[in-house]
Amino acid sequence: MSQMVINGGKKLKGRVIISGAKNSVLPLLAATVLCDGEVTLRNCPDISDVDTALLILNLLGIETKFTDNTAFINAKAPLNTILSETVMRKMRSSIVFTGSILARRGKAIVAYPGGCELGPRPIDIHIEALKKLGAVVTEDNGKLIFTAPNGLVGTEIDLKISSVGATENIILAASLSKGTTVINNAAREPEIDDLINFLTIAGAKINGKGTSTITVFGVEKLSAIDYFIMPDRIEAATYISAVATAGGEITLENVTPKHIESIIEVYKNAGCEITAKGSTLTVKQNNGLAALPYVKSMPYPAFPTDAGPLLVASLINAKGTSVYVEGVFENRFRFVSELKRMGADIKIEGRAAVINGKTLSPANCRCYDLRGGAAVVIAALGIKGKSVISDIEYINRGYEKITEKLNALGADVYIKE
Ligand code: UD1
Repeated sequence: MSQMVINGGKKLKGRVIISGAKNSVLPLLAATVLCDGEVTLRNCPDISDVDTALLILNLLGIETKFTDNTAFINAKAPLNTILSETVMRKMRSSIVFTGSILARRGKAIVAYPGGCELGPRPIDIHIEALKKLGAVVTEDNGKLIFTAPNGLVGTEIDLKISSVGATENIILAASLSKGTTVINNAAREPEIDDLINFLTIAGAKINGKGTSTITVFGVEKLSAIDYFIMPDRIEAATYISAVATAGGEITLENVTPKHIESIIEVYKNAGCEITAKGSTLTVKQNNGLAALPYVKSMPYPAFPTDAGPLLVASLINAKGTSVYVEGVFENRFRFVSELKRMGADIKIEGRAAVINGKTLSPANCRCYDLRGGAAVVIAALGIKGKSVISDIEYINRGYEKITEKLNALGADVYIKE
Protein backbone atom coordinates (compact mmCIF):
# COMPACT_ATOMS: atom_id res chain seq x y z
CA MET A 1 0.00 0.00 0.00
CA SER A 2 1.35 3.46 -0.92
CA GLN A 3 1.61 6.54 1.26
CA MET A 4 0.93 10.19 0.52
CA VAL A 5 3.26 12.69 2.14
CA ILE A 6 1.77 16.17 2.59
CA ASN A 7 3.80 19.18 3.69
CA GLY A 8 0.76 21.18 4.69
CA GLY A 9 0.04 24.76 5.56
CA LYS A 10 0.48 26.14 2.03
CA LYS A 11 -2.22 28.37 0.58
CA LEU A 12 -3.69 27.14 -2.70
CA LYS A 13 -3.76 29.19 -5.88
CA GLY A 14 -4.53 28.44 -9.53
CA ARG A 15 -6.91 26.41 -11.67
CA VAL A 16 -7.99 22.79 -11.48
CA ILE A 17 -9.94 20.86 -14.10
CA ILE A 18 -12.63 18.65 -12.60
CA SER A 19 -12.82 15.16 -14.13
CA GLY A 20 -15.84 13.20 -15.32
CA ALA A 21 -18.06 11.87 -12.54
CA LYS A 22 -17.12 8.58 -10.90
CA ASN A 23 -20.70 7.95 -9.83
CA SER A 24 -21.86 8.52 -13.39
CA VAL A 25 -19.27 6.56 -15.33
CA LEU A 26 -19.91 3.33 -13.41
CA PRO A 27 -23.64 3.01 -14.27
CA LEU A 28 -22.84 4.28 -17.78
CA LEU A 29 -20.34 1.46 -18.23
CA ALA A 30 -23.07 -0.91 -17.03
CA ALA A 31 -25.42 0.67 -19.59
CA THR A 32 -23.01 -0.18 -22.41
CA VAL A 33 -23.90 -3.86 -21.84
CA LEU A 34 -27.34 -2.98 -23.24
CA CYS A 35 -26.02 -1.29 -26.39
CA ASP A 36 -25.60 -3.28 -29.55
CA GLY A 37 -22.33 -1.96 -30.99
CA GLU A 38 -19.38 0.28 -30.12
CA VAL A 39 -19.97 2.94 -27.46
CA THR A 40 -17.53 5.79 -26.95
CA LEU A 41 -17.51 7.37 -23.49
CA ARG A 42 -15.61 10.65 -23.28
CA ASN A 43 -14.47 12.57 -20.18
CA CYS A 44 -14.00 9.22 -18.48
CA PRO A 45 -12.06 9.64 -15.22
CA ASP A 46 -8.81 7.65 -15.04
CA ILE A 47 -9.49 6.04 -11.65
CA SER A 48 -9.20 2.50 -10.35
CA ASP A 49 -13.00 2.01 -10.08
CA VAL A 50 -13.15 2.53 -13.87
CA ASP A 51 -10.43 -0.12 -14.26
CA THR A 52 -12.63 -2.47 -12.22
CA ALA A 53 -15.73 -1.68 -14.31
CA LEU A 54 -13.77 -2.28 -17.54
CA LEU A 55 -12.53 -5.57 -16.10
CA ILE A 56 -16.16 -6.53 -15.41
CA LEU A 57 -17.01 -5.81 -19.06
CA ASN A 58 -14.05 -7.91 -20.20
CA LEU A 59 -15.17 -10.79 -17.97
CA LEU A 60 -18.56 -10.56 -19.69
CA GLY A 61 -16.77 -11.01 -23.00
CA ILE A 62 -17.05 -7.36 -24.02
CA GLU A 63 -14.04 -5.71 -25.66
CA THR A 64 -12.84 -2.43 -24.16
CA LYS A 65 -10.07 0.10 -24.79
CA PHE A 66 -9.19 3.07 -22.59
CA THR A 67 -7.03 5.91 -23.81
CA ASP A 68 -6.81 9.65 -23.03
CA ASN A 69 -9.91 9.67 -20.82
CA THR A 70 -11.97 7.96 -23.50
CA ALA A 71 -13.38 4.44 -23.16
CA PHE A 72 -14.37 2.41 -26.22
CA ILE A 73 -16.70 -0.48 -25.44
CA ASN A 74 -17.98 -2.97 -27.96
CA ALA A 75 -20.97 -4.89 -26.62
CA LYS A 76 -22.02 -6.32 -29.97
CA ALA A 77 -21.86 -9.87 -28.72
CA PRO A 78 -21.80 -10.08 -24.93
CA LEU A 79 -21.12 -13.71 -24.17
CA ASN A 80 -20.97 -14.31 -20.47
CA THR A 81 -23.48 -13.75 -17.71
CA ILE A 82 -21.33 -14.60 -14.71
CA LEU A 83 -19.41 -12.22 -12.43
CA SER A 84 -17.20 -13.84 -9.80
CA GLU A 85 -17.24 -12.95 -6.13
CA THR A 86 -13.66 -11.64 -6.48
CA VAL A 87 -14.62 -8.95 -8.99
CA MET A 88 -17.98 -8.18 -7.35
CA ARG A 89 -16.26 -7.50 -4.04
CA LYS A 90 -13.95 -4.89 -5.56
CA MET A 91 -16.66 -2.21 -5.60
CA ARG A 92 -20.28 -1.76 -4.64
CA SER A 93 -21.29 -0.45 -8.08
CA SER A 94 -20.69 -3.91 -9.52
CA ILE A 95 -24.31 -4.61 -8.50
CA VAL A 96 -25.66 -2.20 -11.17
CA PHE A 97 -24.33 -4.53 -13.84
CA THR A 98 -26.97 -7.08 -12.79
CA GLY A 99 -29.92 -5.21 -14.33
CA SER A 100 -28.09 -4.80 -17.64
CA ILE A 101 -26.83 -8.37 -17.93
CA LEU A 102 -30.24 -9.74 -16.99
CA ALA A 103 -32.11 -7.53 -19.45
CA ARG A 104 -29.71 -8.28 -22.31
CA ARG A 105 -29.16 -12.01 -21.71
CA GLY A 106 -32.09 -13.22 -19.58
CA LYS A 107 -29.69 -14.44 -16.89
CA ALA A 108 -27.13 -12.97 -14.48
CA ILE A 109 -25.03 -14.80 -11.92
CA VAL A 110 -23.37 -12.40 -9.47
CA ALA A 111 -22.32 -12.20 -5.82
CA TYR A 112 -22.89 -9.72 -3.02
CA PRO A 113 -20.89 -6.55 -3.85
CA GLY A 114 -18.08 -5.00 -1.81
CA GLY A 115 -16.96 -1.37 -1.81
CA CYS A 116 -16.22 1.18 0.90
CA GLU A 117 -17.51 0.13 4.31
CA LEU A 118 -20.14 2.70 5.33
CA GLY A 119 -22.09 0.61 7.78
CA PRO A 120 -24.43 -2.07 6.45
CA ARG A 121 -25.09 -1.60 2.73
CA PRO A 122 -27.74 -4.14 1.79
CA ILE A 123 -28.94 -4.83 -1.76
CA ASP A 124 -32.48 -5.91 -0.80
CA ILE A 125 -34.08 -3.05 -2.77
CA HIS A 126 -32.19 -4.07 -5.93
CA ILE A 127 -33.22 -7.71 -5.56
CA GLU A 128 -36.89 -6.96 -4.79
CA ALA A 129 -37.14 -4.61 -7.77
CA LEU A 130 -35.64 -7.09 -10.22
CA LYS A 131 -38.04 -9.72 -8.85
CA LYS A 132 -40.94 -7.35 -9.51
CA LEU A 133 -39.73 -7.07 -13.10
CA GLY A 134 -40.14 -10.84 -13.36
CA ALA A 135 -36.71 -12.18 -12.43
CA VAL A 136 -36.48 -15.38 -10.44
CA VAL A 137 -33.74 -15.04 -7.86
CA THR A 138 -32.01 -17.92 -6.10
CA GLU A 139 -28.91 -18.16 -3.96
CA ASP A 140 -26.35 -20.92 -4.24
CA ASN A 141 -23.17 -20.98 -2.19
CA GLY A 142 -22.74 -17.21 -2.13
CA LYS A 143 -23.85 -16.83 -5.75
CA LEU A 144 -26.95 -14.82 -6.61
CA ILE A 145 -28.66 -16.28 -9.65
CA PHE A 146 -31.14 -14.08 -11.53
CA THR A 147 -33.11 -15.60 -14.40
CA ALA A 148 -35.77 -14.24 -16.72
CA PRO A 149 -35.83 -16.69 -19.64
CA ASN A 150 -38.80 -14.96 -21.29
CA GLY A 151 -37.49 -11.47 -20.64
CA LEU A 152 -38.39 -8.88 -18.02
CA VAL A 153 -41.82 -7.26 -17.93
CA GLY A 154 -42.55 -3.66 -16.94
CA THR A 155 -44.39 -2.97 -13.69
CA GLU A 156 -44.84 -0.34 -10.95
CA ILE A 157 -42.09 -0.29 -8.31
CA ASP A 158 -42.27 1.69 -5.05
CA LEU A 159 -38.83 2.17 -3.53
CA LYS A 160 -38.84 2.15 0.29
CA ILE A 161 -35.65 4.28 0.20
CA SER A 162 -34.71 6.42 -2.79
CA SER A 163 -31.59 4.37 -3.42
CA VAL A 164 -29.34 5.73 -6.16
CA GLY A 165 -27.95 2.35 -7.20
CA ALA A 166 -31.34 0.61 -7.14
CA THR A 167 -32.93 3.39 -9.24
CA GLU A 168 -30.10 2.95 -11.78
CA ASN A 169 -30.38 -0.84 -11.77
CA ILE A 170 -34.14 -0.66 -12.44
CA ILE A 171 -33.77 1.94 -15.21
CA LEU A 172 -31.15 -0.26 -16.88
CA ALA A 173 -33.21 -3.44 -16.60
CA ALA A 174 -36.48 -1.74 -17.61
CA SER A 175 -34.97 -0.13 -20.71
CA LEU A 176 -34.91 -3.51 -22.49
CA SER A 177 -38.05 -4.92 -20.81
CA LYS A 178 -41.44 -5.52 -22.36
CA GLY A 179 -43.97 -2.82 -21.44
CA THR A 180 -43.79 0.11 -19.06
CA THR A 181 -42.05 0.43 -15.69
CA VAL A 182 -42.91 3.19 -13.22
CA ILE A 183 -40.43 3.86 -10.40
CA ASN A 184 -41.93 5.74 -7.45
CA ASN A 185 -39.68 7.43 -4.87
CA ALA A 186 -36.82 7.25 -7.39
CA ALA A 187 -33.50 8.89 -6.50
CA ARG A 188 -32.99 12.32 -8.12
CA GLU A 189 -29.19 12.54 -8.11
CA PRO A 190 -27.74 14.25 -11.23
CA GLU A 191 -25.88 11.04 -12.12
CA ILE A 192 -29.29 9.44 -12.73
CA ASP A 193 -30.11 12.22 -15.18
CA ASP A 194 -26.80 11.48 -16.90
CA LEU A 195 -27.75 7.81 -17.20
CA ILE A 196 -31.18 8.74 -18.61
CA ASN A 197 -29.54 11.13 -21.11
CA PHE A 198 -27.18 8.37 -22.25
CA LEU A 199 -29.93 5.77 -22.60
CA THR A 200 -32.26 8.19 -24.39
CA ILE A 201 -29.61 8.96 -27.02
CA ALA A 202 -29.08 5.19 -27.39
CA GLY A 203 -32.80 4.77 -28.14
CA ALA A 204 -34.48 4.27 -24.75
CA LYS A 205 -37.80 5.94 -23.92
CA ILE A 206 -37.76 7.41 -20.41
CA ASN A 207 -39.91 10.12 -18.81
CA GLY A 208 -39.57 11.94 -15.49
CA LYS A 209 -35.88 12.84 -15.51
CA GLY A 210 -34.97 14.83 -12.40
CA THR A 211 -38.18 13.85 -10.60
CA SER A 212 -38.98 11.11 -8.10
CA THR A 213 -41.30 9.31 -10.55
CA ILE A 214 -39.48 7.82 -13.50
CA THR A 215 -41.32 5.98 -16.28
CA VAL A 216 -39.40 3.66 -18.59
CA PHE A 217 -41.09 2.43 -21.77
CA GLY A 218 -39.19 -0.72 -22.72
CA VAL A 219 -37.65 -0.93 -26.20
CA GLU A 220 -36.25 -3.92 -28.10
CA LYS A 221 -32.80 -2.61 -28.82
CA LEU A 222 -30.33 0.12 -27.83
CA SER A 223 -27.73 1.39 -30.27
CA ALA A 224 -24.09 2.38 -30.12
CA ILE A 225 -23.47 6.03 -29.17
CA ASP A 226 -20.78 8.61 -28.44
CA TYR A 227 -21.30 10.27 -25.03
CA PHE A 228 -19.58 12.91 -22.86
CA ILE A 229 -19.81 12.22 -19.09
CA MET A 230 -20.96 14.95 -16.67
CA PRO A 231 -18.45 16.59 -14.26
CA ASP A 232 -17.80 15.01 -10.87
CA ARG A 233 -19.64 17.10 -8.26
CA ILE A 234 -17.92 15.32 -5.36
CA GLU A 235 -14.46 15.94 -6.82
CA ALA A 236 -15.55 19.59 -7.11
CA ALA A 237 -16.61 19.52 -3.44
CA THR A 238 -13.18 18.10 -2.59
CA TYR A 239 -11.28 21.01 -4.16
CA ILE A 240 -13.71 23.53 -2.60
CA SER A 241 -13.01 21.89 0.74
CA ALA A 242 -9.24 21.91 0.07
CA VAL A 243 -9.09 25.68 -0.48
CA ALA A 244 -11.59 26.31 2.32
CA THR A 245 -9.22 24.45 4.66
CA ALA A 246 -5.79 25.54 3.39
CA GLY A 247 -6.82 29.07 2.39
CA GLY A 248 -6.09 30.84 -0.90
CA GLU A 249 -8.04 31.28 -4.12
CA ILE A 250 -8.64 28.66 -6.80
CA THR A 251 -10.80 28.27 -9.87
CA LEU A 252 -12.48 24.98 -10.69
CA GLU A 253 -13.08 24.34 -14.39
CA ASN A 254 -15.59 21.92 -15.94
CA VAL A 255 -18.17 22.06 -13.16
CA THR A 256 -21.97 22.26 -13.26
CA PRO A 257 -22.68 24.85 -10.51
CA LYS A 258 -26.33 23.81 -10.35
CA HIS A 259 -25.32 20.33 -9.20
CA ILE A 260 -23.37 21.72 -6.24
CA GLU A 261 -25.69 24.48 -5.03
CA SER A 262 -26.09 22.93 -1.57
CA ILE A 263 -22.31 22.57 -1.25
CA ILE A 264 -21.70 26.17 -2.35
CA GLU A 265 -24.23 27.41 0.20
CA VAL A 266 -22.63 25.48 3.07
CA TYR A 267 -19.09 26.72 2.31
CA LYS A 268 -20.38 30.28 1.84
CA ASN A 269 -21.96 30.05 5.29
CA ALA A 270 -18.56 29.00 6.63
CA GLY A 271 -17.05 32.21 5.20
CA CYS A 272 -15.79 31.27 1.72
CA GLU A 273 -16.31 33.67 -1.18
CA ILE A 274 -17.65 31.62 -4.09
CA THR A 275 -18.49 32.88 -7.57
CA ALA A 276 -19.92 30.75 -10.37
CA LYS A 277 -19.49 31.77 -14.00
CA GLY A 278 -20.56 29.37 -16.74
CA SER A 279 -18.80 26.09 -16.02
CA THR A 280 -16.21 27.61 -13.68
CA LEU A 281 -16.30 28.26 -9.96
CA THR A 282 -13.90 30.52 -8.07
CA VAL A 283 -13.46 29.86 -4.36
CA LYS A 284 -11.59 32.19 -2.01
CA GLN A 285 -10.87 31.87 1.70
CA ASN A 286 -8.31 34.00 3.49
CA ASN A 287 -9.69 34.66 6.97
CA GLY A 288 -10.22 31.19 8.42
CA LEU A 289 -13.52 29.33 8.52
CA ALA A 290 -16.51 30.02 10.76
CA ALA A 291 -18.15 27.05 12.48
CA LEU A 292 -21.46 25.76 11.08
CA PRO A 293 -24.15 25.14 13.74
CA TYR A 294 -25.98 22.45 11.75
CA VAL A 295 -25.46 20.69 8.42
CA LYS A 296 -27.19 17.40 7.56
CA SER A 297 -26.58 15.23 4.52
CA MET A 298 -29.64 13.96 2.69
CA PRO A 299 -30.44 12.78 -0.85
CA TYR A 300 -30.10 15.30 -3.72
CA PRO A 301 -30.69 18.25 -3.88
CA ALA A 302 -29.64 18.46 -0.20
CA PHE A 303 -26.01 18.40 0.96
CA PRO A 304 -24.53 15.08 -0.29
CA THR A 305 -23.33 12.38 2.09
CA ASP A 306 -20.16 11.94 0.00
CA ALA A 307 -19.16 15.54 0.79
CA GLY A 308 -19.75 15.05 4.55
CA PRO A 309 -16.27 13.76 5.49
CA LEU A 310 -14.70 16.59 3.45
CA LEU A 311 -16.76 19.18 5.33
CA VAL A 312 -15.86 17.69 8.71
CA ALA A 313 -12.17 17.93 7.74
CA SER A 314 -12.66 21.61 6.86
CA LEU A 315 -14.40 22.37 10.16
CA ILE A 316 -11.81 20.90 12.55
CA ASN A 317 -9.96 24.20 12.80
CA ALA A 318 -12.95 26.54 12.23
CA LYS A 319 -13.76 29.15 14.86
CA GLY A 320 -16.37 27.63 17.21
CA THR A 321 -18.49 24.49 17.41
CA SER A 322 -20.03 22.81 14.37
CA VAL A 323 -22.52 19.98 14.09
CA TYR A 324 -22.63 17.68 11.06
CA VAL A 325 -25.31 14.97 10.84
CA GLU A 326 -24.96 12.01 8.47
CA GLY A 327 -28.45 11.46 7.11
CA VAL A 328 -27.89 8.70 4.53
CA PHE A 329 -25.57 5.99 5.87
CA GLU A 330 -25.55 4.40 9.30
CA ASN A 331 -21.83 4.57 9.91
CA ARG A 332 -19.72 7.02 8.00
CA PHE A 333 -17.36 8.34 10.68
CA ARG A 334 -14.48 5.87 10.60
CA PHE A 335 -12.13 8.61 9.30
CA VAL A 336 -12.73 10.64 12.48
CA SER A 337 -10.18 8.52 14.40
CA GLU A 338 -7.55 9.72 11.89
CA LEU A 339 -8.49 13.39 12.28
CA LYS A 340 -8.18 12.90 16.04
CA ARG A 341 -4.53 11.88 15.50
CA MET A 342 -4.08 15.45 14.26
CA GLY A 343 -5.60 16.69 17.51
CA ALA A 344 -9.14 17.28 16.22
CA ASP A 345 -11.83 17.62 18.88
CA ILE A 346 -14.75 15.62 17.45
CA LYS A 347 -17.41 13.79 19.41
CA ILE A 348 -19.66 11.29 17.64
CA GLU A 349 -23.17 11.09 19.04
CA GLY A 350 -25.18 8.61 16.97
CA ARG A 351 -25.21 10.02 13.46
CA ALA A 352 -23.95 13.46 14.55
CA ALA A 353 -20.38 14.74 14.70
CA VAL A 354 -19.87 17.63 17.13
CA ILE A 355 -16.71 19.46 16.11
CA ASN A 356 -14.91 21.99 18.32
CA GLY A 357 -12.52 23.91 16.09
CA LYS A 358 -8.92 24.11 17.32
CA THR A 359 -5.31 24.37 16.17
CA LEU A 360 -3.99 21.04 14.90
CA SER A 361 -0.69 19.24 14.39
CA PRO A 362 0.55 17.07 11.50
CA ALA A 363 0.28 13.30 12.03
CA ASN A 364 0.64 9.85 10.50
CA CYS A 365 -2.82 8.67 9.47
CA ARG A 366 -4.45 6.08 7.23
CA CYS A 367 -7.39 5.84 4.84
CA TYR A 368 -10.28 3.51 5.55
CA ASP A 369 -12.48 4.47 2.60
CA LEU A 370 -12.57 6.77 -0.42
CA ARG A 371 -14.14 9.99 0.91
CA GLY A 372 -12.88 9.46 4.46
CA GLY A 373 -9.38 9.14 2.98
CA ALA A 374 -9.85 12.34 0.98
CA ALA A 375 -10.98 14.05 4.20
CA VAL A 376 -7.69 13.16 5.89
CA VAL A 377 -5.79 14.63 2.91
CA ILE A 378 -7.85 17.84 3.17
CA ALA A 379 -7.13 18.14 6.89
CA ALA A 380 -3.39 17.63 6.30
CA LEU A 381 -3.35 20.38 3.64
CA GLY A 382 -4.51 22.84 6.30
CA ILE A 383 -1.90 21.89 8.93
CA LYS A 384 1.63 23.30 8.84
CA GLY A 385 4.16 20.44 8.77
CA LYS A 386 4.50 16.92 7.40
CA SER A 387 1.62 14.44 7.57
CA VAL A 388 1.95 10.94 6.11
CA ILE A 389 -1.22 9.18 4.97
CA SER A 390 -1.11 5.45 4.24
CA ASP A 391 -3.43 3.14 2.27
CA ILE A 392 -4.08 5.80 -0.34
CA GLU A 393 -5.31 3.15 -2.80
CA TYR A 394 -8.77 3.94 -1.42
CA ILE A 395 -8.37 7.48 -2.72
CA ASN A 396 -7.22 6.28 -6.15
CA ARG A 397 -10.57 4.52 -6.53
CA GLY A 398 -12.26 7.85 -7.16
CA TYR A 399 -9.76 10.70 -7.68
CA GLU A 400 -7.91 11.19 -10.94
CA LYS A 401 -4.35 12.55 -10.57
CA ILE A 402 -5.03 14.00 -7.12
CA THR A 403 -1.32 14.51 -6.35
CA GLU A 404 -0.67 16.33 -9.64
CA LYS A 405 -3.81 18.46 -9.29
CA LEU A 406 -2.97 19.52 -5.72
CA ASN A 407 0.66 20.29 -6.59
CA ALA A 408 -0.47 22.40 -9.56
CA LEU A 409 -2.45 24.44 -7.01
CA GLY A 410 0.70 25.05 -4.94
CA ALA A 411 0.37 22.22 -2.41
CA ASP A 412 3.42 20.10 -1.57
CA VAL A 413 2.32 16.49 -1.92
CA TYR A 414 4.15 13.34 -3.07
CA ILE A 415 3.66 9.58 -3.14
CA LYS A 416 5.98 7.18 -1.34
CA GLU A 417 5.67 3.53 -2.45
C1 UD1 B 1 -24.47 5.84 -4.34
C2 UD1 B 1 -23.12 6.46 -4.58
C3 UD1 B 1 -22.45 6.81 -3.27
C4 UD1 B 1 -23.36 7.71 -2.45
C5 UD1 B 1 -24.76 7.10 -2.32
C6 UD1 B 1 -25.75 8.05 -1.66
C7 UD1 B 1 -22.37 5.45 -6.64
C8 UD1 B 1 -21.38 4.57 -7.30
N1 UD1 B 1 -22.30 5.51 -5.31
O1 UD1 B 1 -24.26 4.66 -3.60
O2 UD1 B 1 -21.22 7.47 -3.57
O3 UD1 B 1 -22.80 7.88 -1.18
O4 UD1 B 1 -25.28 6.77 -3.61
O5 UD1 B 1 -25.84 9.23 -2.38
O6 UD1 B 1 -23.15 6.11 -7.28
N2 UD1 B 1 -30.02 0.78 0.86
C9 UD1 B 1 -30.74 -0.31 1.35
N3 UD1 B 1 -31.00 -1.35 0.50
C10 UD1 B 1 -30.59 -1.36 -0.81
C11 UD1 B 1 -29.87 -0.24 -1.29
C12 UD1 B 1 -29.60 0.83 -0.45
O7 UD1 B 1 -31.12 -0.33 2.52
O8 UD1 B 1 -30.87 -2.34 -1.53
C13 UD1 B 1 -29.71 1.93 1.77
C14 UD1 B 1 -28.20 2.11 1.97
O9 UD1 B 1 -27.72 1.25 2.98
C15 UD1 B 1 -28.12 3.58 2.34
C16 UD1 B 1 -29.25 4.21 1.52
O10 UD1 B 1 -30.11 3.13 1.13
O11 UD1 B 1 -28.36 3.77 3.71
C17 UD1 B 1 -28.79 4.93 0.27
O12 UD1 B 1 -27.94 4.08 -0.47
P1 UD1 B 1 -27.84 4.14 -2.05
O13 UD1 B 1 -28.49 5.39 -2.54
O14 UD1 B 1 -28.30 2.85 -2.63
O15 UD1 B 1 -26.27 4.25 -2.27
P2 UD1 B 1 -25.44 3.60 -3.42
O16 UD1 B 1 -26.23 3.55 -4.68
O17 UD1 B 1 -24.79 2.36 -2.93
